[in-house]
Amino acid sequence: MMRSHTCGELRKEHVGQKVRLCGWVETVRDHGGVIFIDLRDREGLTQVLFDPRDSQAAWDEAQRARGEDVIEIEGRVEPRPPDMANPKLATGEIEVRSNVIRLHNHSQTPPFPLDDEEAARVSEDLRLTYRYMDLRRRRMQDNLRLRHRVLMAARRYLDRAGFLEVETPILTKSTPEGARDYLVPSRMVPGAFYALPQAPQQYKQLLMVAGLDRYFQIARCFRDEDLRADRQPEFTQIDLEMSFITPEDIYSIIDGLLAVLVREAGRGEVALPIPRMTYAEALGRYGSDKPDLRFGMELVDVSDLFAGTQFKVFGNVLAKGGVVKAINAEGRGATSLSVMEDWTALAKDAGLGGLAYIRVGEDGTWKSPILKFFSDAEKQGLTERLNIKAGDLVLFGADAAGVVNCALGRLRLVAGEAAGVIDPNRFVFTWVTDFPLLERSEDGRLQSMHHPFTAPHPDDLPLLDSDPLRVRAQAYDIVLNGTELGGGSIRIHHPDLQTRMFQVLGLPADEVEDRFGHLIRALGYGAPPHGGIALGADRLVMLLAGCESIRDVIAFPKTQKAMDLMMNAPAKVDARQLRDVHVRVDLPLETPPPKPATGSS
Ligand code: AMO
Ligand code: AMP
Repeated sequence: MMRSHTCGELRKEHVGQKVRLCGWVETVRDHGGVIFIDLRDREGLTQVLFDPRDSQAAWDEAQRARGEDVIEIEGRVEPRPPDMANPKLATGEIEVRSNVIRLHNHSQTPPFPLDDEEAARVSEDLRLTYRYMDLRRRRMQDNLRLRHRVLMAARRYLDRAGFLEVETPILTKSTPEGARDYLVPSRMVPGAFYALPQAPQQYKQLLMVAGLDRYFQIARCFRDEDLRADRQPEFTQIDLEMSFITPEDIYSIIDGLLAVLVREAGRGEVALPIPRMTYAEALGRYGSDKPDLRFGMELVDVSDLFAGTQFKVFGNVLAKGGVVKAINAEGRGATSLSVMEDWTALAKDAGLGGLAYIRVGEDGTWKSPILKFFSDAEKQGLTERLNIKAGDLVLFGADAAGVVNCALGRLRLVAGEAAGVIDPNRFVFTWVTDFPLLERSEDGRLQSMHHPFTAPHPDDLPLLDSDPLRVRAQAYDIVLNGTELGGGSIRIHHPDLQTRMFQVLGLPADEVEDRFGHLIRALGYGAPPHGGIALGADRLVMLLAGCESIRDVIAFPKTQKAMDLMMNAPAKVDARQLRDVHVRVDLPLETPPPKPATGSS
């Protein structure tokens, strides 16, 4: 063995032992003729001391060592003098006095400092170009270790709960999850393409038809969509499906799983059962289908208070059947007018005509240009309904309910942020249930809110033809701190209903046969009632790790432009490869291949 211990292992009880360590040089310090090297590996840091009186050769070599060189040392464990002990370091009570050092490899000067704080100031492109160096940082190693532990714990939990892990194909056929597919041209079938799975949705349902009963997979999914901090083109789901269940079974399995995973991450105990609210309630009270429940500032309907208002903006909206809602951004009464201008711009961006507000001074006086339109009864009603106190700020939205909810929902988050009431160390989950089955796309067509395999609520089946937008789905999302962590549903398990659903979605019969014939046929061979859910593993680990971006918990993530800067992918391929797969590239202009990042920005 090249090493006897890791760099995080040695303690007082090892004093006197001869040891051999390997790792990377973190720092080299010369202290009046004695050289200290901090040696680092995945497990930690150990201080190694070289004294020329022990070995001049080893001392010479130690002096030549540079940051990130790879070395092996031999020596004896010694206690550090008490005043030299480092309580912040697990190995801080000892050091290794070495007389043998072997250089395994030199390192060039790293492209950026590997210190977590300094690296945070470096451009992310540079870090991604040299990702193997970035991953040497303690923070990144902690993140990947947390990810490993969370996924291991998930596997253990699901195994115990009777789930079988089954791998499903990566080269497959398009399955609709609302994004664009990544396509792979076929060599054997000219002109035909595989699609990479957006989710293992159809396969897991087919596994239920096959009688597998309980399936799970730590599944890689691929979606060609516009990227954000919590979206990657390839990402991982904790994906599961169960037969002979109701939504209650899903809730209880996932409640238990999340409690285990949060505990595994050292983030405390989740109070079970995780509370539930309907989609309508989430939108009504929080203006979002993924409400952040770490703070209040709820949306309150005040339409009735303004039934006879003099204020035209509210009166006109109410006359047209709209609503007036308000939030009390408690304690934000001193918000400056320039911030109010920013928030008004946000309100307008979200579709409101403007943003009426009242700032309440510390002495309790109300300040607002629209106050002159409010009657005493209206003011009294507002005070009671919104519990308005000195120093508060009240924001109003007036428009159609959907617009008001969306706008005030966004303002609620901004106001909560400004008030500093969103605790990053709290983990507040909620289920959101009873999603609508369908929504209107921008071009006015009906489309599935989740996917077309989601079962309608049995009570709402009669509405499917008469009033499809009012049909509730047997669908649920699990939300954590304002992030959609996962979503799932009870599925349609009758071929006739599945066929009808595609009709409602306006898909021509031949297209249904072409894209989903296999699934409809399978449902005809005794499909059990079934349902499932998928949790975004990257998002979960991101939140548990306290990171801002899922890129920080993925070893080799892609940039906002869906590029791997380290491998320089996507890349051109040679003409012969293209010929083999019957593809001709047709670009108006020869686009140069993207350049890797070389410097910080
Ligand atoms: P859905 O599309 O809601 O459902 O995805 C489930 C969860 O996967 C995560 N997720 C993503 N994470 C990172 N990057 C992305 N681009 C991305 N897209 C989605 C989210 C999301 O909640 N087949 C269904 C599940 C089911 O019905 O069982 C599905 O994929 O956390
Ligand atoms: P106006 O009469 O357009 O000058 O608006 C009077 C006040 O009402 C201003 O503070 C506007 O920002 C605000 N306002 C206008 N439209 C709306 C709306 N739809 N919802 C809330 N406030 C609004």
